[in-house]
Amino acid sequence: MNEIKIFSPATVANVACGFDVLGFCLDSVGDEMIIRKIDKKGIYITKIEGFDLPYETELNVAGVSALAMYNAIDVNFGFEIEIYKNIKPGSGIGSSAASAVGSVFGMNVLLGNPFNKTQLTEFAIKGEAIASKCEHADNLAPALFGGFTLVKSIAPVQILELPSPKDLYATIIHPQIEVKTSESRAVLPKDVQLNKAIEQWANLGSLVHALHTSNYNLIKTSLKDVIMEPYRSQLIPHFNEVKETALKAGALGAGISGSGPSIFSLSKGIDTANKVKEAMQKAYSKTGITFEIHVSKINIEGVKII
Ligand code: HSE
Repeated sequence: MNEIKIFSPATVANVACGFDVLGFCLDSVGDEMIIRKIDKKGIYITKIEGFDLPYETELNVAGVSALAMYNAIDVNFGFEIEIYKNIKPGSGIGSSAASAVGSVFGMNVLLGNPFNKTQLTEFAIKGEAIASKCEHADNLAPALFGGFTLVKSIAPVQILELPSPKDLYATIIHPQIEVKTSESRAVLPKDVQLNKAIEQWANLGSLVHALHTSNYNLIKTSLKDVIMEPYRSQLIPHFNEVKETALKAGALGAGISGSGPSIFSLSKGIDTANKVKEAMQKAYSKTGITFEIHVSKINIEGVKII
C-alpha cells in the first residue's frame, strides 16, 4: 500500500473540569487527509483545501508531527500529505490536533504500524505545540484513541482510555470567530486559589467515576469549571446566555470547548441533545454572529482509514 485516505476527527478538550487533561472525540466533524509514500526522501505538504495554512513542512502542524516521526525512522523514501480541512483553525474543537494526528496515523499505517498510539501521541504533540505554543495532549489523545481520554502525563506520555456512557451525546455550537489557543491561554491566571482547586479536582475525579459507572446525575453535577471559565468566557460573545439556554433545554452540563470559542454541552439521549441544539440555535441566531452547530455521539473509534 502506497497511499491512504484517513478521517481525523474533531475533539472537545478540557470538558469543563479537566483543563489540559480530559477530552472526548466527536464523530460528525473532522478533516480528511491523504498520505502517500514517495521515492523522494522527506515530508512534503502538496495540497491544502478548506483553509489557508502554510505549505512549509516546518510551519505546518501536520508537517511538524510528521517530521517528528520521520526523524525517528530510517527509510529511503518520503511522504506527501494532502489536507482537506473541515475544522476551522481557532474553533476550539481540536483543529490543530486533527492535523497533527492525521499525518502520523497515516504514515504509521503505510509503514506497517511500527508505533503504538502512545508513541503517535508523542510525535503529534510536537505538531500541536506549534499551534498553541505549549505541549499538551488533551485534544490529541481522544483523536487518536477515540472516546474519552485522560492525559495522566505528557513526559512520559501516559494516556488513560475512559468509558463513554452509551446514551451520552454532545451538542457543539461554533461561533464563526477565531480565538487563538495561545491568546486564550494568555488570559488565564498564573495562580489558583486553593478552595477553587479543591472544587475542580473533586469534580474531575467525580466525572471520571461517573463515566465508569454511567452515572448521568453525577456527570451533571461534575461538569463545572470554576477556574478557567470565568476568564475565558469573556472572549466568547454570549457565552453565559448560551450555557444557560443549554441547561434549561435539559443538557447535563455545558462549557467552553477547548480554548473556545466553541461551546459544548453533554446530554443524556439524542432527543435531548437535539432539543439543546434547537435552543442554542435560537439563542445564537439573535446575536448576529454566524455559527455552525452539531450534534454528535461520542466517537469511540477516533482517527480512521476511509
Ligand atoms: N487544554 C487546551 C486549552 C486545549 O484549553 O488551552 C486547547 O488546545
